[in-house]
Amino acid sequence: MKNVQLYDKSFKLYLTYDEIQKAVDDVAEKINRDYDQEDTPLFLGVLTGSFMFYADLMKRIDFPCEMCFIRLASYEGTSTTGAVKQMLGLTKSVRGRNVIVVEDIVDTGTTIMELDQILKDGGARSIKYSALLLKPGNYKGSIKIDYPAFSIPNDFIVGYGLDYDQLGRNLKDIYVLDEEETERRKGINIK
Ligand code: IMP
Ligand code: MG
Repeated sequence: MKNVQLYDKSFKLYLTYDEIQKAVDDVAEKINRDYDQEDTPLFLGVLTGSFMFYADLMKRIDFPCEMCFIRLASYEGTSTTGAVKQMLGLTKSVRGRNVIVVEDIVDTGTTIMELDQILKDGGARSIKYSALLLKPGNYKGSIKIDYPAFSIPNDFIVGYGLDYDQLGRNLKDIYVLDEEETERRKGINIK
């Protein structure tokens, strides 16, 4: 099986590009069904991690819609800091809009809880959440994820937009941290 080395950590293949594409098909189908009567919803991509999911999802949306982004950051290395930083504010007003948030992964839920407040303060008319990945075991938020593509265990993953200290975002498949291989490589001092 394919392994990827990023800095000190080894990752193994977890979800293939084809599996991801099928899951994105399902999410898009549900959104297309729910929103075909709505007036020009706004798809809000949460940068940076969601850029691949966002692009693949948008290609499948079959009704008129607008796009907008926000950049939030809460992770350092392989764990959350608990504090969400707004690196780039909303690129468009959400006042009176039906907003569909597009997130890469919902872990503890800190990021989307913060985002929910930003959108409510901004006067959004309705807010729904799509996320490529959800870690239900870590999730402490009170917001329902309306359109999750995959539910996964509390493992650290990279690829398809997701990073380990900014590396791995360009991988087209998704990889999970391989603790055993990481330890083995440390033991024999391979870089
Ligand atoms: P939360 O605020 O704890 O829900 O974390 C959400 C954010 O942390 C995501 O949008 C990601 O940017 C990042 N994150 C959470 N889990 C992972 C992971 O397994 N790999 C890479 N980034 C992650
Ligand atoms: Mg994110």
